[in-house]
Amino acid sequence: MANKSVIWCDAETLAKDISGKTYIVTGANSGVGLETTRQLVKQGGHVVMACRRVDAGKEAAQSFAGLKGSYEVMQCDLADLQSVRAFVDEFLSSHSHLHGLVCNAGMVSMGNQPVYTKDGLEMTIAVSYFGHFLLTELLLDTLKASAPSRMAILSSVVHAGSPKNRYKVNLDDLNFRQRKYNNFAAYGEAKVASVLYAMELAERLEGTGVTTYSLHPGWARSNFGGDGLLMNVMRVLFLPFRNSWTNSNEESAQTSLHCMLSDDAPLHSGAYFSQHSILYRDKECRKGGWPMESPNPHAKDMAMAKALVKKSYEIVGPASSKRIQPRS
Ligand SMILES: NC(=O)c1ccc[n+]([C@@H]2O[C@H](COP(=O)([O-])OP(=O)(O)OC[C@H]3O[C@@H](n4cnc5c(N)ncnc54)[C@H](OP(=O)(O)O)[C@@H]3O)[C@@H](O)[C@H]2O)c1
Repeated sequence: MANKSVIWCDAETLAKDISGKTYIVTGANSGVGLETTRQLVKQGGHVVMACRRVDAGKEAAQSFAGLKGSYEVMQCDLADLQSVRAFVDEFLSSHSHLHGLVCNAGMVSMGNQPVYTKDGLEMTIAVSYFGHFLLTELLLDTLKASAPSRMAILSSVVHAGSPKNRYKVNLDDLNFRQRKYNNFAAYGEAKVASVLYAMELAERLEGTGVTTYSLHPGWARSNFGGDGLLMNVMRVLFLPFRNSWTNSNEESAQTSLHCMLSDDAPLHSGAYFSQHSILYRDKECRKGGWPMESPNPHAKDMAMAKALVKKSYEIVGPASSKRIQPRS
């Protein structure tokens, strides 16, 4: 049964011929990223699938056979800043244009102790935010040279928190070195950082023809959360509401596709776009919106966004595609 609450791209957006345009989608081998990639390829685009596991990317891409566009799979581990730099070097060695960058990959650490990347960053924020921050900054010149072009970063309903507990980025301890770790809070903070980054970047890029977006894709029936106990319990508990509360991966790709392809999205650069979601604690947000206002004031604070970008540069090092040791 179709989910009536889903916001779909309009027919014109999904029929656009994007032949000759190049896109990067991170985490393109699974879930929302795979379906975003499939539609871009279907419409004639060339998609560089930036995957942590190249084999998984190649296997998933076999299902694109017969579609109008093309794809290639390149290795990119967002939990490794050197890997992000190496990916950009490889991309730029064979591509001079980039029309759309979908910063889609994400994960949440499942333990109650922080896991640190080899750069010394907390894993959840490293993959969702820092890796994408570096990737985007390294590709800004190419995006500008390809304008009109777009960048979208996947946030989550979780960034909104609740009226009593709004997540905010903790600039003094982004990587949970000095405070008690909570994996859900790490995810929420990473997703606030994503909303702030798209907002800051939109202001920085005003007039360049490059537009930016953050988004919540919906409650996707993807591989998110893996096979952890919590996720399995949730799957069983929510089974009766599966069709009305959750979304197929195709439905969950709609918001990314709207941001990448619609004529309307560039009128709202820097904004937050959301699929419907029962998980908003603020009831008025549950129907979603393209765009919609985040209920979290900390995700709309431009001074915080600028401070976050400054801090992020201190952490990831300069945005030069030459290999440079990160500072953790
Ligand atoms: N599922 C939901 O309900 C939901 C709700 C709100 C927001 N989101 C966001 O939507 C995005 C897509 O998630 P999904 O639901 O499609 O989940 P998914 O099926 O688990 O896909 C996540 C993707 O991220 C990749 N990834 C994980 N760690 C990586 C790393 N270190 N480097 C590069 N790629 C990495 C995964 O690669 P591997 O296959 O190699 O692990 C996979 O391709 C995420 O940003 C997530 O936070 C999801």
